Amino acid sequence: MSATAHAPAVRRVAVIAGVGGYVPPTVVTNRELTSQLDTTDEWIRTRTGIVSRHMVSPGTATSDLAVEAGRRALESSGEHSVDTVVLATTTPDHPCPATAPEVAHRLGLGDAAAFDIAAVCAGFLYGLATAAGLVAAGTAERVLLIAADAFTTIIDPADRSTAIIFADGAGAAVLRAGTADEPGAVGRVVLGSEGGLADLIQVPAGGSRQRSRGIAPAPGEEFFRMRGRDTYRHAVERMTSAARQAAALAGWEMATDIDRLAAHQANARILTAVAERLGIDAERCLSNIAQVGNTGGASIPLLLAEATTSGELVAGHRLLLTAFGGGLAWGATTLVWPDLKTC
Ligand code: UT7
Repeated sequence: MSATAHAPAVRRVAVIAGVGGYVPPTVVTNRELTSQLDTTDEWIRTRTGIVSRHMVSPGTATSDLAVEAGRRALESSGEHSVDTVVLATTTPDHPCPATAPEVAHRLGLGDAAAFDIAAVCAGFLYGLATAAGLVAAGTAERVLLIAADAFTTIIDPADRSTAIIFADGAGAAVLRAGTADEPGAVGRVVLGSEGGLADLIQVPAGGSRQRSRGIAPAPGEEFFRMRGRDTYRHAVERMTSAARQAAALAGWEMATDIDRLAAHQANARILTAVAERLGIDAERCLSNIAQVGNTGGASIPLLLAEATTSGELVAGHRLLLTAFGGGLAWGATTLVWPDLKTC
């Protein structure tokens, strides 16, 4: 046997090589919502931290947001090619087929493998784990991971507890094969779920459960429903515990080893509670919820792209990501932010 046959194999990991974000141009302020809903600007600001959000215009779909974010991530990576496209979304363009193949086609990515994953607001973390696994197995060399949601298309505009929070946007990252010691290498990803609480966040109609009944859905069943207060409690608990597990797997101490926390932008009060429990002060927490609201799965990559552009996130920062959403599903991971340009 040759000497190289005995050499330890270098573990292939996924390394972030590009990042991009996109929000549709239409901005909806709290004051505009007060003309349609029994709410106030003050209630929304103090209970959620949201001041304004972006909303798709009529006819715009998730793929339109995903293509823009994906294009920007590819430009950021400096290379317009990938062999796999993964799209995390709760609002696919159609129930069938998946939206990712159309996104890959519109981005001119040839016959790249393309599929959707569904993990609601934890979609980017589930997507990172999926991309990392494909790269580690040698199935993929370069993955475009996009998380995009036209969330307002499933929100009941008359439901004041959800219409004030959820919004539209997309974020994306290019991941290439690399080694664990490189900046951008995705750390171990912690994932979890609790399907016994699926009814906390749900769109009751439109799936096989309702369609197999053979009768039209009851009014409002096609809209997203959330038991807000219970969801809030689980969001704080799960994002905190997943973040602790991910940091421990990386051997990082909360007090000294984390430069930035990028948590799913669910609600500013949830973000504060998670950061306080973790012992991470406000200066180390990235946040854009005031301007974009809760953009579902898009939340974290959109935040990373914006923070890279603004300079709040720079090369060398040790970053902790944590997310939670319907399912229930959650995830967390760590990485050292690489030197990226944004477009
Ligand atoms: O993205 C991942 C999953 N989602 C989340 O993590 C979101 C988690 N939940 C939340 O962010 C919060 O629960 C909400 C923002 C949805 C609601 O805030 P809250 O402080 O938990 O309010 P609440 O649901 O406990 O409601 C308190 C009161 C209720 O009135 P009563 O029953 O006390 O008279 C609601 O009817 O506030 C009322 N309310 C509102 N009032 C004015 C609910 N929504 C509004 C509103 N404007 N928009």
